[in-house]
Amino acid sequence: MDEAALREQLATLGASLFQRGYSVGTAGNISVRLADGYLMTPTNSCLGRLDPARISKLAPDWSHIGGDKPSKEVFMHRAVLTARPDAGAVVHLHSTYATAIGCLAEAGDTAPIPPLTPYFVMRVGRTLPVIRYYRPGDGAMESDIHEAAKGAKAVLLANHGPVVSGKTLEDAVHAAEELEEAARLALLLRNAGARALTPAQVDDLLATFG
Ligand code: 13P
Repeated sequence: MDEAALREQLATLGASLFQRGYSVGTAGNISVRLADGYLMTPTNSCLGRLDPARISKLAPDWSHIGGDKPSKEVFMHRAVLTARPDAGAVVHLHSTYATAIGCLAEAGDTAPIPPLTPYFVMRVGRTLPVIRYYRPGDGAMESDIHEAAKGAKAVLLANHGPVVSGKTLEDAVHAAEELEEAARLALLLRNAGARALTPAQVDDLLATFG
């Protein structure tokens, strides 16, 4: 997909996430890897009303070279995209249920959401490392996220929200949606003694779809 098409897709998927309540106000940001740099949602922009022409462009060295001023979370996106060379996009949301889990889980936990359903395992994987709280935009979060993202498609920022990668922008959006759904189920079934998938069932899913 060329840059113009990716800009259009970013605006379309951002609007879809916003309309379905995955982000509110100006929360959340999205990045896409290009052959010659990165696209990034502008800071203080609403995912529901992105103008494709004004989406920020960053050079391969992450300097701002076009469009509006990029998200304050450039460090967060850089942490994941440099840790995962096969990732083509990163979606960061403050989606309600995943963020709620991020307010309950302890930093350092690697499985704050149990593997209740196959699609959570297939899209997000075996681990979801919880990163300690950092102020939004704090560059100090970069190394923690970078280390955790080497072994995980997604991480959960304590008291903040999920950061989800995918091979393509569509993959990253789908994974972010599955993560939110799994978080919702986990909270719905909290303390209900729900049956999770067994380690063998998780292994089978990852061997088949991973
Ligand atoms: P930006 O508006 O700078 O992208 O920040 C929004 C956000 O989600 C902070 O975590």
